[in-house]
Amino acid sequence: MTIGIFDSGMGGLTVLATAQQMMPGENFIYYGDTAYAPYGIQSIEYILERSRFICDLLLEKGVDAIVIACNTATSAAVKILRKEYTIPIIGMEPAIKPAIEKNNGLGIIVMATPLTLKEEKYRNLVNQVMTSQKIYEVPAPDIVTLVESGMAHTFEMEETIKKYFKEIPMESIESIVLGCTHFLFIKNLLKALYPHVELIDGNEGTINQLKRKIRDHQKKMGFSEKGKIEILNSAGEKMILQSEKLLKEYILEYGN
Ligand code: DGL
Repeated sequence: MTIGIFDSGMGGLTVLATAQQMMPGENFIYYGDTAYAPYGIQSIEYILERSRFICDLLLEKGVDAIVIACNTATSAAVKILRKEYTIPIIGMEPAIKPAIEKNNGLGIIVMATPLTLKEEKYRNLVNQVMTSQKIYEVPAPDIVTLVESGMAHTFEMEETIKKYFKEIPMESIESIVLGCTHFLFIKNLLKALYPHVELIDGNEGTINQLKRKIRDHQKKMGFSEKGKIEILNSAGEKMILQSEKLLKEYILEYGN
């Protein structure tokens, strides 16, 4: 089978890494929309239009299912895309539920893009979990921009993280939900700055959901030994090379 995965840019590469590890026999086509990133400060219409363009392109390339490896595009577009396309479309949302299940009574930070945090999908999710724990919502668009510019491991990144958490009593926090796929590139930096805090992301949950959705189809198609990966990017060849490099580095650093 061939699975299409897309994001506004580099963030979804972390989902690709997880997908490849959990489903090594499948083929993946990854589309990074760097020329149109970031999505998190754009309008719903803008993101919907880009998502449609990418889904059409992936369908033309013959994918059997699509993973929106982007919390922002999921909240802006997944409902509509599922009505418009017949193949399974798997989305992502900030992993608040797992964070609350593991919670020991201290505070939780949810970091995401401004759009994700203000949209109905996230608001519904928070209302559903109804917890007495304090949840701090941190819109952090500058982290996306720094990751896109290859600055995940820099002093500027460290300063940006500190700026976003300035008002939060970090000693009262026990977990940070990484509600944007770009933020997985800074896991080690966050761990170094706040060693007592657990980092929670939705990558594995998303790929488990993908596996459930395509199980029957997969049985019919059978498994191959090792799948292929193809990377595409709206900003051209240079960003494709940059994505391949980043994917390798991420797997080396975090082991998928
Ligand atoms: N990686 C995306 C997410 O998971 C969005 C980043 C952006 O383009 O603002 O939300």
